[in-house]
Amino acid sequence: MTTPVIVTTQEELETLTQAWVQAGESIAFVPTMGALHQGHLALVEQASQNADRVVVSIFVNPLQFGTGEDFNQYPRDIDKDARALGDSPADLVFAPTVSEIYPEGPGATATQSAGVIGRLFEGASRPGHFDGMLTVVYRLFDLVKPDVAVFGQKDAQQLFLISQMVDTLALPIRIVGVETVRGSDDLALSSRNAYLSPSEHQIALAIPQALDAAGVARNSDEAKKNARAVLEKSEGLEADYIEIVDPDSFLALPPGSPAHQGRLIIAALVGSTRLIDNQLLTFG
Ligand code: PAJ
Repeated sequence: MTTPVIVTTQEELETLTQAWVQAGESIAFVPTMGALHQGHLALVEQASQNADRVVVSIFVNPLQFGTGEDFNQYPRDIDKDARALGDSPADLVFAPTVSEIYPEGPGATATQSAGVIGRLFEGASRPGHFDGMLTVVYRLFDLVKPDVAVFGQKDAQQLFLISQMVDTLALPIRIVGVETVRGSDDLALSSRNAYLSPSEHQIALAIPQALDAAGVARNSDEAKKNARAVLEKSEGLEADYIEIVDPDSFLALPPGSPAHQGRLIIAALVGSTRLIDNQLLTFG
């Protein structure tokens, strides 16, 4: 493994990626906001198994943060990220400035719309979040021109919406999803876990416990009830939503649904930190 080249401009990115394309090499792309952890690195590893070259982007996208959210506090440490990627199969890191991505300013020109599903769950609590997320992902796809792009199931609604955008716009990119990477205590790895105090981290463990409790249920109603019971008795944690969605449509399963599968999605606040997690459940 060699230390990846870090570039910050479109021109540098295109010079390198075009040389690969001319040599007949395929490109896999992993978009990130940095503060890299083992979850991101699992995506990079998966990317390397799907193409000849791997591009990782590091860009904290202002357009997907709402007013009062953590855009300014979001952890940024490019040197640490570069070291982490040095031990990975990444070939190239694209770490642009805001003006490189949005020359007219964020939101000044046409943006993508995440549509109906983009306004549910995460989108209901974070208005405009998914429009901003899709806008940057579309822009990055246009710059990197990957054959394959890799995303985590950790952000299941995001992955769903990106797949939907790629289908709707018939973009020639294969989307690959990767299972959520968890710590030894089962908490899903997230850059935002850095905000948690040690006691908040302990409280947050109720989230994977809720997923486990739902996993033994025989149907979606029971699964939701089990998850809710765990979260409600957890002091210091406030659930935002607990829902079970049809994995194909990302719409909530109705009460009494006979579905054999559903994805349990959870968002909760621990202190001022918003955490999300999910798990595919099979009933019966
Ligand atoms: P970020 O939160 O940095 O996540 C980058 C990618 O890593 C996403 O595909 C996310 O689902 C994945 N990921 C995060 N935690 C993971 C874990 N524990 N296990 C597996 N994968 C994990 O998601 C974003 O950035 C942004 O919205 C982005 C797509 C880059 C657009 O700005």
